[in-house]
Amino acid sequence: MLITIGRMQDSKTNMNQNNEKLSLTLLDSTMGDAYLVMVDEFEAVGEDYPYNNIPLAREDWHAFVAELRDEEAGINLPPGIVPQWTYVLVENRTTIMGEIRYRPATAPPFRPGHDHIGYNVRPSYRRRGYANLMLGQVLDQARADGIPGVALVVEGDNPGSVRTIAKSGGTLAEEYTDEHSTLVSVYWIALH
Ligand SMILES: CC(C)(COP(=O)(O)OP(=O)(O)OC[C@H]1O[C@@H](n2cnc3c(N)ncnc32)[C@H](O)[C@@H]1OP(=O)(O)O)[C@@H](O)C(=O)NCCC(=O)NCCS
Repeated sequence: MLITIGRMQDSKTNMNQNNEKLSLTLLDSTMGDAYLVMVDEFEAVGEDYPYNNIPLAREDWHAFVAELRDEEAGINLPPGIVPQWTYVLVENRTTIMGEIRYRPATAPPFRPGHDHIGYNVRPSYRRRGYANLMLGQVLDQARADGIPGVALVVEGDNPGSVRTIAKSGGTLAEEYTDEHSTLVSVYWIALH
């Protein structure tokens, strides 16, 4: 499994259990069908996909990718929204198993959608270590970027995400109950 990440200086090589090639890469103009198959699977099992502009992705993939490039470059962002890089984990260049978003310039207070990293793994590919793999790669990038640590916000009961964060050294930094009585947990992973 070859792991490459768009902005990383060093690529890493690993193998998955089926000896297939995986790469963590920025979404590009060739990935529309594979990406929407992943989104369709989330929606088919009753999970929303609020992480990116899916209506635009369905209507005009090239415009969607152009919007992602603008997000990375900080172009046309609303006030208070920092640049974001959207990476996907791709198998054999054809199947997308998950997505991870990286926002290195995020400043406190950390809140849902306003944290350094968010991720999601396609339902049929869960419990295979892919969240752990994606997070580890983006943490390498964050270290290379020189930021002291990253905040990740978990809403409600999410043992898979909490365990993923704990495995990367995350600790609970803040907890509060929001206006919908949902417990919100802010985790911090120190990087240096
Ligand atoms: C949370 C999520 C990203 C986990 O992805 P995943 O690829 O299944 O996670 P991994 O296989 O890398 O597992 C990482 C660790 O979490 C554990 N884990 C994963 N899902 C779990 C679950 N539902 N319950 C308990 N532990 C779980 C794994 O066992 C592993 O720990 P271990 O190595 O000690 O056994 C995935 O369930 C998901 O996309 N959920 C919906 C979106 C979401 O909640 N995103 C996070 C928002 S904060």
